[in-house]
Formats: sequence, structure tokens, C-alpha cells
Amino acid sequence: MSFPITRMRRLRSSEVLRNMVRETNLTRNDLIMPLFVRPGTKVQNPIKSMPGNYQFSVDTLTEQCKQLYNSGVQSVLLFGIPEQKDETGDIACSHNGIVQQAVRAIKQAVPGLYVVADICNCEYTSHGHCGTIVNGYVDNDATIVTLAKQAVSLAQAGIDMVAPSDMMDGRVGAIRKALDENGFHTLPIMAYSAKYASAFYGPFRDAAESAPKFGDRTSYQMDSANKNEALREVALDIEEGADIVMVKPALSYLDVISEVKHKFNVPIAAYNVSGEFSMVKAAAEKGWIDEKRIVREILTSIKRAGADIIISYHTQDIINEL
Ligand code: PBG
Repeated sequence: MSFPITRMRRLRSSEVLRNMVRETNLTRNDLIMPLFVRPGTKVQNPIKSMPGNYQFSVDTLTEQCKQLYNSGVQSVLLFGIPEQKDETGDIACSHNGIVQQAVRAIKQAVPGLYVVADICNCEYTSHGHCGTIVNGYVDNDATIVTLAKQAVSLAQAGIDMVAPSDMMDGRVGAIRKALDENGFHTLPIMAYSAKYASAFYGPFRDAAESAPKFGDRTSYQMDSANKNEALREVALDIEEGADIVMVKPALSYLDVISEVKHKFNVPIAAYNVSGEFSMVKAAAEKGWIDEKRIVREILTSIKRAGADIIISYHTQDIINEL
């Protein structure tokens, strides 16, 4: 019998000791802050369902990036809300697209900030789906052509990394090939590999104005009940050239993060998505939870599960404490 020789509480007896034996430490290096950019000047529209988050215009976004960078945020993930939408999302590939403008402005004003772009069509299509519709169905192979074009255009604008979030088959390979052919062989791809069709994206769709006008995303995003399928998705993305694989959402999928960590020897990102963020904010506003402690616990749990990188709207709130 190990008791009383082994007393687990000995190592919990002082804060210094607890700090020394802590297995998972959250740091500034782990976090990416998502931001939304729209046309106009001096725009800072609060996103009602995501307190503390805004739709910025390029000028106010640049200012925000400066502040975030000065407070210790090292990386941001950009989402664009275009002036006009079209059938295929082609507007996202324009030299003067909203994210392209934002990247150029940020890179000039805050060169040290690492800027990632989400690659998808849903913010840019009139129907709100992530790809080109053919006979009422999101056509895979037509869509990956547009995604590759979008990635190259953002690379030309100076983006540091691209993050395809569409869940089309073969898109990582198509994007890798297009980037390489255009001289961007050193530009990394962070693939949303295991992205589930999730109700946790609700607030984001208000923020990005990207809710589908008909149907849902279940014909391309994953069924939340599946884990083996996530491993197949990850394997395929690695084979196609993904440098980092992502699991999304994070909290209801910690088991998936953990499994991917154990099965694959690649960096893992996890997206602590809008619904996960807004639930915390709503409960905190009601005074039902201690927001600071909850946020640290949540982000630490995502890292403990195996994520190397955490994309989170809480980044701006917690950065000062890391
Ligand atoms: C675009 C995209 C979405 C999110 C990230 N990229 C929405 C969706 O798939 O509907 C969700 C992010 C969040 O909820 O914070 N495809």
C-alpha cells in the first residue's frame, strides 16, 4: 500500500512548488487572435454576440493590430467581409480584396505581427456556402480552384500563412501546388483538417455575415459524432502538404485533439470558436462565473489535450497575464 509513503498533496503544498511541477503552461507563443475586416473608414462595429470584438475597417484594424502587438499578441487570423458578394467568391481573389488591403496595411504598420488569413468562400458568396454551387450542391473540384486562387492572391499581398477552412477534398494539395507554382514554396499552410459542422459557429456567422442562405454545411463539414473520420482527414491533409493541422471547435473535441496528437507527429492547432467564447462572456456578464479563471482553465485544457496553437477570441483579454 503506497499510503502514507506517497502523499500526492505534498507537491501541492506551496505555490512555488505547484508552479515548478505544472505540466502545461500557457504562453503568449500559443495564441492567435481572430479579427474581422470590412470596407470603409473609421468603422468599429461591435459584434453584439461577441462582446469586445468588432468589425473593423482597414484603418481601425491596423490601429487595433498595433495595440494588440504592443500588448504581446504575436499573431492574428483575418476574416474579410467584402463590399459585394458573388456566386463563386471570386471577389476574394482580387488584388484589392478587403483582406488583401488589410494585410498590406498591417504588414506596413506592424511588421512584426504574424498575419494568417482564413481561406474560404463563405464570406464572399451570395448564397453563404463555402464553395461554388452546381445543381444545388457545393461542387468540390470547382471550389478548390477558387480557393487556390484566393491563397495565391493573399500570398501576393504579403500574408504569412494561409488557413483553408472550407473542408473541400483535395484543397490543401491544390493550394500547396498553386503557392509553389507562384514562388511561395516557403509559405506554410495551417489546414482546418477536422472541422465539424457545429452549432458553436453561431456568433461567428453574425460577425462574418456568412450564414448559408439555404441548407447547412453538413455536406462538407464533419459530423460531430465522428472521430475515426477526423484521423483520416488529418492524414490526408498531411499527405497533401499541410504544415499544421487544426481541430475545430476545441472544447467539445478535446478527445479528437488528443487522438491527433498521439497518432501524428505534426503541430496541432485548435480553434476555440465563437460560440465557446460567447457562452463564457454571457455567463460572466451575468456574474455567474469568474471569467479570468475560466478562460485560463479553458485555454490550458486545450493545450493539455495536445494543441500547440490556440486560436481564441479570449487572446486579447488574457495576453497581459501571460
Ligand atoms: C469559414 C469559417 C467559419 C469559422 C471559421 N472559418 C464558419 C463556418 O464554417 O461556418 C468559425 C469560427 C468561429 O465560430 O469562431 N468557413
